[in-house]
Amino acid sequence: MAFLEIRDLTKVYGEKVVLDELNLSAQDGEFISLLGPSGCGKTTALRLIAGFLQPDGGSIAVNGREITNLPAYRRNIGMVFQSYALFPHMTVGQNIAFGLEQRRFSRGEISKAVDESLDMVRLNGFASRRPAELSGGQQQRVALARALVFKPQLLLLDESLSALDKKLRVQMQLELRQIQKEVGVTAVFVTHDHEEALTMSDRVAVMRNGRIVQLDTPSNVYRAPVDGFVAESLGEANFLRGSVRSKDGSGFVLDLGDGLSLAVATDRQVDVGETCTVAIRPEDIELAPARSARSDVVGHVRSIAFAGNTTLYVIEALRREIRVRRPNSAAAENGFALDQEVALAWNAGAALVLSDRQGVS
Ligand SMILES: Nc1ncnc2c1ncn2[C@@H]1O[C@H](COP(=O)(O)OP(=O)(O)O)[C@@H](O)[C@H]1O
Ligand SMILES: [Mg+2]
Repeated sequence: MAFLEIRDLTKVYGEKVVLDELNLSAQDGEFISLLGPSGCGKTTALRLIAGFLQPDGGSIAVNGREITNLPAYRRNIGMVFQSYALFPHMTVGQNIAFGLEQRRFSRGEISKAVDESLDMVRLNGFASRRPAELSGGQQQRVALARALVFKPQLLLLDESLSALDKKLRVQMQLELRQIQKEVGVTAVFVTHDHEEALTMSDRVAVMRNGRIVQLDTPSNVYRAPVDGFVAESLGEANFLRGSVRSKDGSGFVLDLGDGLSLAVATDRQVDVGETCTVAIRPEDIELAPARSARSDVVGHVRSIAFAGNTTLYVIEALRREIRVRRPNSAAAENGFALDQEVALAWNAGAALVLSDRQGVS
């Protein structure tokens, strides 16, 4: 049994099934991200784990003990919210001590625990400040200290970095992960930002309509998505849908309709006649001047967007628009021009063959 074991967790509001027999597990000390679009049930899932809501079905166990029906205050779970929810009129120290005072810890215990948790989040010396005197990142760390002060067995974070600007957010991602590792607490982190989920997590749980669609390592959800929804949730992709015309040992030929076809190199087994979707990440496609390259796929550059470390090209090929993202560096600037004829190529394995049952429409 995993450290956190959620089975068939269900929550219904009126007619609406918000969580639909959700299953999720985490190992001791693991950092799991719940990634999904707004409204898919992420916050509801966290609130059920924390005990702020009661489920309509299913069970939650932590460290071998079922907690489904325990009140929130007896679960020993720390939670950090997006809004931080700090008390503005209290100092940092008082904010962190508040929950301990409610539970009638002694003065000595409280002062020691507050110091320790400020230490954990690297805010020593800030105890007498008020939240308004802190930066967004520091307020976030106070909220984290307040969640960790109880030495919780589980830490839940709900979009807790979303309010920070991009640069600070990236810095806090690394810092939060470092602190979580040092403390050794198992964490469930909710986000709708796929880069955040990929960089921070041991495993990513991709969520859709109240269910977990895939739970796997960042590289597996990115490189081996189970369906089009997961592929799209983790980053940009070009989707090519068709039916399998023929196959051989190295892959198959996808019939795209309108007399178009595409040779797909893959070891994924498909049947002739089967419809499927092939997803190709923009950064996996290479461009070359059309005349110099041997490629089945040739097209024209329709737009060019310089984005600093990459350039995004939209190529009209196969009678559709294909997005191609090429890295830039001082040594290798991309030099393709508008309307230039280019050849597209990618390595075997770059074409992700997706199950059509849940593929994109
Ligand atoms: N108290 C409630 N009553 C009715 N519907 C709710 C309630 N709380 C959440 N919902 C609905 O449940 C769905 C999931 O909400 P939520 O868990 O907040 O999603 P997320 O955090 O992924 O954006 C949404 O459609 C939301 O409108
Ligand atoms: Mg939410």
